[in-house]
Amino acid sequence: MQALQSTMCNTIFLLLLLTYTNQPCMAAIPNPQQNHPVDLSALLAFQSHITSDPQNILTSTWNTNTSFCNWTGVSCSRRRPRVAKLQLNGLSLTGTIAPEIGNMTFLRFLDLDNNNFNGHLPDSLGNLRHLKSFHILYNMLNGPIPPSIFNISSLEVILLGGNFFSGQIPSIHPPRLRGLGLFNNQLEGPIPPTIFNIPSLEQLSLPFNSLTGEIPNVHLESLIFLNLRGNNLTGPIPASMGNLTQLLWLDLIDNHLTGVVPSSLGRLGNLQLLELRGNNFQLGPMPSAVLNMSSLVVLELTSTGLIGSLPADFGLHFPSLQQLYLDYNELTGPIPISLSNASNLEVVDSSGSTFTGSVPATIGDLSHLQILNLEGILTIAKTSQFSIISSEVVDY
Ligand SMILES: *[C@@H]1O[C@H](CO)[C@@H](O)[C@H](O)[C@H]1NC(C)=O
Ligand SMILES: *[C@@H]1O[C@H](CO)[C@@H](O)[C@H](O)[C@H]1NC(C)=O
Ligand SMILES: *[C@@H]1O[C@H](CO)[C@@H](O)[C@H](O)[C@H]1NC(C)=O
Ligand SMILES: *[C@@H]1O[C@H](CO)[C@@H](O)[C@H](O)[C@H]1NC(C)=O
Ligand SMILES: *[C@@H]1O[C@H](CO)[C@@H](O)[C@H](O)[C@H]1NC(C)=O
Ligand SMILES: *[C@@H]1O[C@H](CO)[C@@H](O)[C@H](O)[C@H]1NC(C)=O
Ligand SMILES: *[C@@H]1O[C@H](CO)[C@@H](O)[C@H](O)[C@H]1NC(C)=O
Ligand SMILES: *[C@@H]1O[C@H](CO)[C@@H](O)[C@H](O)[C@H]1NC(C)=O
Repeated sequence: MQALQSTMCNTIFLLLLLTYTNQPCMAAIPNPQQNHPVDLSALLAFQSHITSDPQNILTSTWNTNTSFCNWTGVSCSRRRPRVAKLQLNGLSLTGTIAPEIGNMTFLRFLDLDNNNFNGHLPDSLGNLRHLKSFHILYNMLNGPIPPSIFNISSLEVILLGGNFFSGQIPSIHPPRLRGLGLFNNQLEGPIPPTIFNIPSLEQLSLPFNSLTGEIPNVHLESLIFLNLRGNNLTGPIPASMGNLTQLLWLDLIDNHLTGVVPSSLGRLGNLQLLELRGNNFQLGPMPSAVLNMSSLVVLELTSTGLIGSLPADFGLHFPSLQQLYLDYNELTGPIPISLSNASNLEVVDSSGSTFTGSVPATIGDLSHLQILNLEGILTIAKTSQFSIISSEVVDY
């Protein structure tokens, strides 16, 4: 599952990355005399703050004898000899981010992913008023996220994940923001309610921080990816989350959420992944909302306080479901025969349940099944029915 998640995760963020990687802004200006002095001094200041460049990318090509439009990682605007794109990802560059970077006001795309930049992000980044996409994933940056960055009205993608940013998420937001990735930092405090008011927001990824407070009400419809895993969020899942009808992915694992899964989530007719493990939900039956999610591929309700028996038609409406985790609940009663209608199931884990009766013989029709763990029933099931399941069964 870990592998599946990271694959899907990368895919989704890749979409955002690709959107701006192919920007048509390549037009080398022949004459180094035409190097714009403001951009030139900003680039040289940026270079001077770099203390290690193991692949000698900057030392070998960032030469004032040539137009900076020709330097590795630098692309100029089609219309004028100004820097439109600075893309220096994965070069193991070490150093701080020079504040002069904020002088390159024609910059639209800034990508410094996968380096070793440290120190704080300069406030002056907020001067980049044409910036559409800013990523600096997986570096060693710390300190607060300058609110001035979130004040750039042209920004559509902000990816700051995999650093050591602390403090709170700024509460102002670019009005056209499509993707915000602040995962794997040390951010604390609440999720600003304003985030869920950005009508264009498609992807919000805030896992593995120390965010607290309740999940704010949702007032947008465009969200397709929401990951709040591994924070300290409390309170219930807001009923308004049922308004996110485009949502494909909802991961709320490892928080302190309470209450019950709201029935409004039954409107999430496109949801492919629902993961709620590791919260403090109230004991109750399988939420009826879940039974409506016929697009689910992964349903992970481990330890979510489920009690009672599964609905008799459980499985009838899950044509795409591959992974079903119901372990560490208090499920009882029979295993519904309709489980075998979920014909794409690969993993069924319901260990810790005390099902009664026997495994329905039709389970043997699940030709993709690799893992079946119905611990509570194994003593009964070690009869002919269980051998129906192919030898691929991993009984752990
Ligand atoms: C840009 O680089 C190419 C090849 O690397 C070179 O032929 C060309 O002269 C350079 N142009 C300028 C203006 O430096
Ligand atoms: C720039 O070009 C001149 C003459 O072609 C050369 O003498 C000088 O060393 C070059 N400077 C750098 C920094 O490469
Ligand atoms: C560039 O930015 C720095 C710091 O942000 C500032 O002090 C400097 O005056 C600017 N330089 C130019 C040439 O605009
Ligand atoms: C945001 O921008 C507005 C107008 O451009 C400005 O008045 C305000 O001070 C900025 N706020 C921050 C935090 O940069
Ligand atoms: C959540 O809060 C508890 C204390 O209330 C703390 O021990 C724990 O580290 C916090 N977890 C996260 C992920 O911030
Ligand atoms: C969102 O959901 C809530 C609760 O389900 C509902 O009352 C509200 O009208 C919805 N808002 C929009 C904009 O759809
Ligand atoms: C299931 O979906 C249908 C249509 O999308 C909706 O009308 C119904 O209210 C949903 N049921 C639940 C329990 O959410
Ligand atoms: C469910 O599976 C049974 C047999 O395994 C089949 O007879 C029935 O038609 C299926 N129902 C649906 C709705 O696919």
